[in-house]
Amino acid sequence: MKVGIPKEILSNENRVAAVPDAVNKMVKGGMEVLVETGAGLASYIDDAEYVRAGAAVVPEAETLFAESDVILKVQKPLMNNKVKKHEVDMMKEGAVLITFMQPLANLDIVLKLANRKITSFSMDAVPRISRAQMMDALSSMSTIAGYKAVLMAANSLRKFLPMLSTAAGTVQPAKVIVIGAGVAGLQAIATAKRLGAVVTAFDTRPAVGEQVKSVGGEFIPLNVTHEQAEDTGGYAKEQSVEFYKQEQEIIRKQTKDADIVITTALIPGKPAPTLITEEMVKEMKKGSAIVDLAIEQGGNCMLSEQGKEVVKHGVTIIGTSNLPSAMSVHASQLYARNVLNFLYLLAPDKKTINLNLDDEIIKGSMITHGGAITNDKVKEAVEKGNISYPTGSVTRSHW
Ligand code: NAI
Repeated sequence: MKVGIPKEILSNENRVAAVPDAVNKMVKGGMEVLVETGAGLASYIDDAEYVRAGAAVVPEAETLFAESDVILKVQKPLMNNKVKKHEVDMMKEGAVLITFMQPLANLDIVLKLANRKITSFSMDAVPRISRAQMMDALSSMSTIAGYKAVLMAANSLRKFLPMLSTAAGTVQPAKVIVIGAGVAGLQAIATAKRLGAVVTAFDTRPAVGEQVKSVGGEFIPLNVTHEQAEDTGGYAKEQSVEFYKQEQEIIRKQTKDADIVITTALIPGKPAPTLITEEMVKEMKKGSAIVDLAIEQGGNCMLSEQGKEVVKHGVTIIGTSNLPSAMSVHASQLYARNVLNFLYLLAPDKKTINLNLDDEIIKGSMITHGGAITNDKVKEAVEKGNISYPTGSVTRSHW
């Protein structure tokens, strides 16, 4: 079985779907691996390292796609302007594709995949169950985003984060507020704490209070019971408009004198709740910063703009997307491990694809197979001719 690793073609995408360590494991297991020339360069991996790991380096994308039985990618398949062909059209009919696809926001691509009889899996649709943890690429990427968000905010401040006692006097530690203490939020809390800030966090799920404390943050509970806050899968439930108004008031007391606010509040399948209004930004200290990680679902802050860093009312508001690409060395390493584990699920003998269609993880993440759309939500969206709200990069919110 041949596994192909193409070079990502989306501009500013620095990640690659397999690093040499993963390639080496595939080769040792009996797979043949093809890597496109330069695929790893933006993660500082040169072709020679892939060759040493046992891969064959292929100069032409077309050859790589045409020869591979399995394609591992990071981004959804796109038009390759260099060769003037869509990546899906370059794939072998019946081949397997594993990537972040955001199928509900990319129904045209889903239809193309079904037409070419590609068996496609979307890494953003891997169910969040214990057995799938080692394949949970969204959590890997959110960990990176939470960390990077703090660094970006810290960099924009004209202040220290830690308390400093110097001969010239004492500098007080920065105050950091994290809204949403899921994967990205917990990493943001831990990172800000390590840099010496005083960190306070909010979440609608009371259950995360202990986790916040364990990484050094103070948790301010909101007035919701466990049943009101979480669904059976452990995800946050949407709350009433009234609830969000009250939450804004509680948060407002903390954001007034904050130096950094990181927002990550997400409800799967829904637009992000607005938790920071323009009035709240106006009241914040000049020179403070907000990083809105939920920007791709519309944002938690009314004033954030996707892909941009803007200054409004003296506050820097960062709505940069695809933060993991900015940390491509570790993002590629973690993603490659998640994808390799997923590939092993599809090929239990580590050599050949042998799909167990009853497996919950395979069923949950499969989007197309044998010329049909296999995912119920995607099928329903196609039937309705309906594309959910548009987004930029990977997110669980579509599920
Ligand atoms: P998650 O589902 O693990 O965490 C979201 C948290 O928000 C949950 O703990 C939930 O209970 C909480 N929440 C929901 N409603 C809330 C409310 N009203 N008030 C306070 N908390 C609330 O999600 P994860 O993986 O941590 O991702 C967080 C966000 O970061 C998502 O929007 C995701 O798309 C984004 N992200 C952005 C990236 C970027 O490059 N910009 C990269 C990776 C993730």
